[in-house]
Amino acid sequence: MILTRRKLLQGSAALGAATLSPHMGLAQNEGFTSITARLASMQLAPDGYAQTDVWGYEGLTPGPTIQVAKGARVQRQFVNELPQGSSIHWHGIRIDNAMDGVSGLTQDAVEPGQTFDYDFVVPDAGTYWFHAHNKSVEQVARGLYGALIVEEDEAPDIDQEEVLLLDDWLINPDTAQLDPDFEAPHDRSHGGRNGNFITTNGDYQFSSDVKQGDRLRLRLINAANARIFVLSLMGLEGWVMAYDGMPLDKPEKVNGEFPLAPGQRVDLFVDVTAEEGEAAYLLRTIDEQLLPQAAFPVTARSSVSTRDAPQPLPPNHGEHITDVSDATAVTLRMEGGAMGRLNTAVLDGEEMTFRQLAEANQFWSFNGVVGMTETPLAGFSRGEMVKLKIENETRFPHAMHLHGMHFREVLEDGQFGPMRDTILTYAGRTTEIAFRADNPGKWLFHCHMLSHSAAGMRTWIDVA
Ligand code: C2O
Ligand code: CU
Repeated sequence: MILTRRKLLQGSAALGAATLSPHMGLAQNEGFTSITARLASMQLAPDGYAQTDVWGYEGLTPGPTIQVAKGARVQRQFVNELPQGSSIHWHGIRIDNAMDGVSGLTQDAVEPGQTFDYDFVVPDAGTYWFHAHNKSVEQVARGLYGALIVEEDEAPDIDQEEVLLLDDWLINPDTAQLDPDFEAPHDRSHGGRNGNFITTNGDYQFSSDVKQGDRLRLRLINAANARIFVLSLMGLEGWVMAYDGMPLDKPEKVNGEFPLAPGQRVDLFVDVTAEEGEAAYLLRTIDEQLLPQAAFPVTARSSVSTRDAPQPLPPNHGEHITDVSDATAVTLRMEGGAMGRLNTAVLDGEEMTFRQLAEANQFWSFNGVVGMTETPLAGFSRGEMVKLKIENETRFPHAMHLHGMHFREVLEDGQFGPMRDTILTYAGRTTEIAFRADNPGKWLFHCHMLSHSAAGMRTWIDVA
């Protein structure tokens, strides 16, 4: 098969027969096992292209899936064989603060040749992930991430499960190597580092055989630095079962396109309706073009004829917020970026003009402050109900992620959205979220478009 550069850039070559099973590693609950971050190379681009140098957990990207039972204790000795300090963040887990893995906030970066013992309990079932949290814009882009799956007490009624980590890579089509400029001012001031080569589980033509009539569970994880995937189904009838690990009270029918922002996850149950000999697809839309993100060739017919709509997954702790009139109110005003209106903001205690900030490769502010400071955005006492208004006064969408706790969006009609840990806020709009500050510690709150985070969009809250 001859691939043109254009096809490579679209990452959309004809669907081949290649099948890649996800890297699965069942975690044993018996003391520490190691997880080593190291340099590796892999055949990311199509055959005929050079291998790509990546960084991966256990030399793999995605790293080995960690799959454990709800309530299990996870013990991993992180071994850093990278040329930079690093740490691991367990995205979406209601974790003990000391194990949250944020270099510079909850721990020091683990220096090359050093180790750190992560030891925590996973209280909620669901789809989570782990990724590097030092120089994330570089380390995640180089491949340092993997899935963390926490199983329900009782396995739901499905025939097949697929953990799908969606990513895009910015690679040079001549050399197949990653663009090494992880700090490009244009990425930082615009939409972030968007790749030109899109993969699922590191495979640009991910494919997995299915049977007609089977019910699949798709655990989708957006591991990209900045890309908002716009997804849809073909030959599949689907329901959203959970967002960011947290089950919905009522499964939601998938109708048309749905976005998945960086850091977000969605659990879908999908019934294969495509005929035997055809294929079903998870599709992505880019520039009004529909392309396969994952293919499911239908190789047989299932013995089950038709199924009822799925029952909801068993609930996690998911608090039902009913009233936030007495909640502590906090406002976070986002400013900056290209075409924004930011005049001045404070960087390292100094008031700077937008031009001066740009010279420092910083572009965004929260409440007039760029990046992390010694003092938190806000401090709460444990158990306090918080409503946080996010005013996006920039020209870009931002995927805001709160560590350590899930929140609900406060909707206009007085209702509350699903529990989430990462929410897409749109340009020029105000989004309000509410949560109970019930996990003590220092929790990062930042944009998961990692170039934005590196260029100013991060702060933290303190729960006493
Ligand atoms: Cu998934 Cu602070 O990150
Ligand atoms: Cu952002």
